[in-house]
Amino acid sequence: MTEHVKLKGWLVVPTAACLLGALAMSRARTHAKPSRPAPPHTPIVTPVEGPSNFHRLGIVFGSSAMGSTGVWGPTPESYKAPPVDFTSSQTLGRPAVLSGGEIYRLSCEACHKADGNGAPPEIPAVIGPVQATSALFMERRMKERGHPISAAFARELASGSQKDLLARLKNGGQKMPAFGYLTPAEIHALIGYLDKLAGVPGDGKAFTVTEPSARVGELLVKGTCHICHDATGPWPSPEEFLQGSIPPIAGFTSRKTLPELVWKVRHGAPVVMGPLQLEYRGRMPVFDYLTDDEVASAYLYLMTYPPGETADGSGARQ
Ligand code: HEC
Ligand code: HEC
Repeated sequence: MTEHVKLKGWLVVPTAACLLGALAMSRARTHAKPSRPAPPHTPIVTPVEGPSNFHRLGIVFGSSAMGSTGVWGPTPESYKAPPVDFTSSQTLGRPAVLSGGEIYRLSCEACHKADGNGAPPEIPAVIGPVQATSALFMERRMKERGHPISAAFARELASGSQKDLLARLKNGGQKMPAFGYLTPAEIHALIGYLDKLAGVPGDGKAFTVTEPSARVGELLVKGTCHICHDATGPWPSPEEFLQGSIPPIAGFTSRKTLPELVWKVRHGAPVVMGPLQLEYRGRMPVFDYLTDDEVASAYLYLMTYPPGETADGSGARQ
């Protein structure tokens, strides 16, 4: 794989060694056919595939708050390229301990924002539906409003809301993508965090899951990048870029080095567009709440699980 060579050039030796080990291991896993279903706490990493959420819905970029952080990249004049000695951390490629808050950040924050309030009316807050999953919360609220309900009825309401929340995650909504790939352990951790965010009385425990590095990248790519970017397709020409084309995820690792991808996502980078191939300020929002390692994990994931790796191999590589 030529990509190995390219990756190695960018990482310090110990990181490269463990990264390549991880790549080799996850490669083996993609090809091995599991003979029985994995236990619920072990995520099965799969490639990202299909159209972006925008394409699925026929939404034009710029007309939706989904995926928009409101933070923009630098102008070509003020852009500072990644430092030549940029290395991602020593822990890249090793299993990562993810909290519910981190799962929220990778999967939900691009739409529902850090505080869970979303961008109404298009993106509703998660707070209310999460509060409704707590019997104690419902009982107190109805009492405050002068309509006291019995504890049993509160429990019934709460259990209905819990089912709704789980169904929402599994199936998505009209505009919201489905998160059926989250494991029960990930959902458990995520819900623990949502409770905290919504101020729901819980047992105060913070749940974490230990995941392979590629899984972190998978959650980020599927939960955030796939909102706007199709999995596969032709890379746009400079003219098409100028006309508003959004490039496919499948081209990220062949077009960008690992530091370039980290920079584009976390700090923003100008794009070369138009017939004169001039540099313009990017239209892509900047995701400054992500860490270097999370974006680097996405790079690792995309190298190991090329997007839309279909049976006939089409669209897997640019
Ligand atoms: C691409 C944007 C997007 C992402 C990512 C996203 N959501 Fe949503 N969410 C929406 C939209 C839009 C709605 C409104 C219903 C619809 O149109 O699907 C919604 C609705 C909801 C609701 C129901 C709100 C209500 O008032 O009924 C909950 C709960 C929710 N999302 C939780 C989550 C969680 C948890 C995550 C992360 C795992 C998440 N969402 C990720 C866009 C998103
Ligand atoms: C809200 C929509 C949106 C989201 C979400 C998004 N992008 Fe983009 N991305 C764009 C647009 C628009 C462009 C076109 C170039 C530009 O204007 O910046 C782009 C371009 C790119 C490019 C090509 C830049 C170039 O110079 O050719 C890369 C690489 C990229 N995005 C990576 C990512 C990654 C990785 C994620 C997830 C962490 C992501 N994007 C999430 C909208 C988005």
